[in-house]
Amino acid sequence: MKDRPHFWNWVSQTPGDVMEIGVHKGSSFARMVEIAHRLGFKAYAVDSFEGMAEPGERDEGHYPAGKFDVGGLSGFTAVFLELMKRHNLPEGSWVAHQGWVPDVLSDFPDEQRFGFIRIDLDHYQPTLDAARWAVRHLLPEGILSFHDWFPDRTTLAAGAINEFILEQAAPPRSFVRTEGMELSLWGLGH
Ligand SMILES: C[S@@+](CC[C@H](N)C(=O)[O-])C[C@H]1O[C@@H](n2cnc3c(N)ncnc32)[C@H](O)[C@@H]1O
Repeated sequence: MKDRPHFWNWVSQTPGDVMEIGVHKGSSFARMVEIAHRLGFKAYAVDSFEGMAEPGERDEGHYPAGKFDVGGLSGFTAVFLELMKRHNLPEGSWVAHQGWVPDVLSDFPDEQRFGFIRIDLDHYQPTLDAARWAVRHLLPEGILSFHDWFPDRTTLAAGAINEFILEQAAPPRSFVRTEGMELSLWGLGH
């Protein structure tokens, strides 16, 4: 992930533990671990670690199965532990959950809450499923953040984000968009 001071500034406003759903090699997750640890919170990574599933109807064939495969949880952990050592971050500052969205999200108890959840899954259906799950797991002042947002798109992750926003009973209190297709929403948590 390119350096985006505004984005990291939002992560720094997290009122609790942070999560990234769609991690790949962990380049943005590493930064999230660093910020969360400084604030006394834990960081959670969620990914198949085997790359993308088969594209669905709303993905128009983009992002084929297996793209972004990092060799499973063991492949990810081996590389990521080294990175964390270089940043002087203790092992307990982060945890990775392997599996397919939405099934893997049932690893987390109903009552668990997060201060910042970032969703970066590229495909339409897992993005919608993850967003619906995330809104039930955000703290009241929590931030829900998406990559790959375009306002007029009806396909891929952006299509899911637009649909998700429309289905909220109360609209987000604020939207912030920066360069790089990042969209963050406040006011959805409870
Ligand atoms: C674009 S990459 C994430 C990049 C990462 N956030 C970064 O900034 O470096 C998308 C990730 O989503 C994961 N992914 C896509 N669909 C998934 C699904 N249904 N379940 C679990 N992981 C999925 C892929 O394995 C891949 O690692």
